[in-house]
Amino acid sequence: MAEFALPKNSRLQAGKEFPPPATAKRLKRFEVYRFNPDTNENPRIDVYHLDLDECGEMVLDAILKIKNDIDSSLTFRRSCREGVCGSCAMNVNGKNTLVCTKAISDYAGTIKIFPLPHLSVIKDLVADMSHFYAQYASIKPWIETQTPAPADRERLQSKEERAKLDGLYECVLCACCSTSCPSYWWNSERYLGPAVLLQAYRWLVDSRDETTGERLDELEDPFKVYRCHTIMNCTDTCPKGLNPAKAIAETKKMLLLRQQG
Ligand code: SF4
Ligand code: SF4
Ligand code: FES
Repeated sequence: MAEFALPKNSRLQAGKEFPPPATAKRLKRFEVYRFNPDTNENPRIDVYHLDLDECGEMVLDAILKIKNDIDSSLTFRRSCREGVCGSCAMNVNGKNTLVCTKAISDYAGTIKIFPLPHLSVIKDLVADMSHFYAQYASIKPWIETQTPAPADRERLQSKEERAKLDGLYECVLCACCSTSCPSYWWNSERYLGPAVLLQAYRWLVDSRDETTGERLDELEDPFKVYRCHTIMNCTDTCPKGLNPAKAIAETKKMLLLRQQG
């Protein structure tokens, strides 16, 4: 029997509960969001039980175990399994995270796994990132220069200039922050959201880039940056420990200083 009671008006439906392995000693229960666009059915929650003695330590290991041993139809993204590709972002027990970096033992009781919130779902745990990536491309995430490159060497940075990229270059574009941001939920067509704004700031402070003015021109817009109301969900959620809210505040400061000066 499923433990959860769905609200009467929920379009989610209780799904299938797969029986626990017969000889398991350390059982863990997983509730997993399922949606198949090829059927006309509403999304459902399927329930799986794993023997933790037979499973790896991370939440991604559990999802792989379910797919490999119990239900091969479960669909999700993953690649590096060490927190650097950003593809395994999901919502676990209400918080967005990279499931390859979260230990099963971090969660007491049932583990509930959903796709990232407020994005369309392509299938099961795979959210549609197209709009997010289009917004990322819109900030030109590459060095733009106006002067010719030195003939005999690369464009160099001092140690101090390079240090300004710390806390920014580590972003793996997982979208955990943007999809936890209420402003982004309601205005994602026009507000760039914390992940893309952190990336925009990363190029604003790169000493080798020669288009800071043009980049600020692009951001000077009532929606692109100023929908951030410093709610801080983004910083609280980032599985890489980054601070997108601070990057947004610094960008606002750059825009203000330019207006004043
Ligand atoms: S600080 Fe800004 S970007 Fe971060 S969650 Fe809040 S509104 Fe969104
Ligand atoms: S700032 Fe953090 S949460 Fe946001 S996309 Fe980058 S790594 Fe993911
Ligand atoms: S699989 Fe690459 S970040 Fe999790």
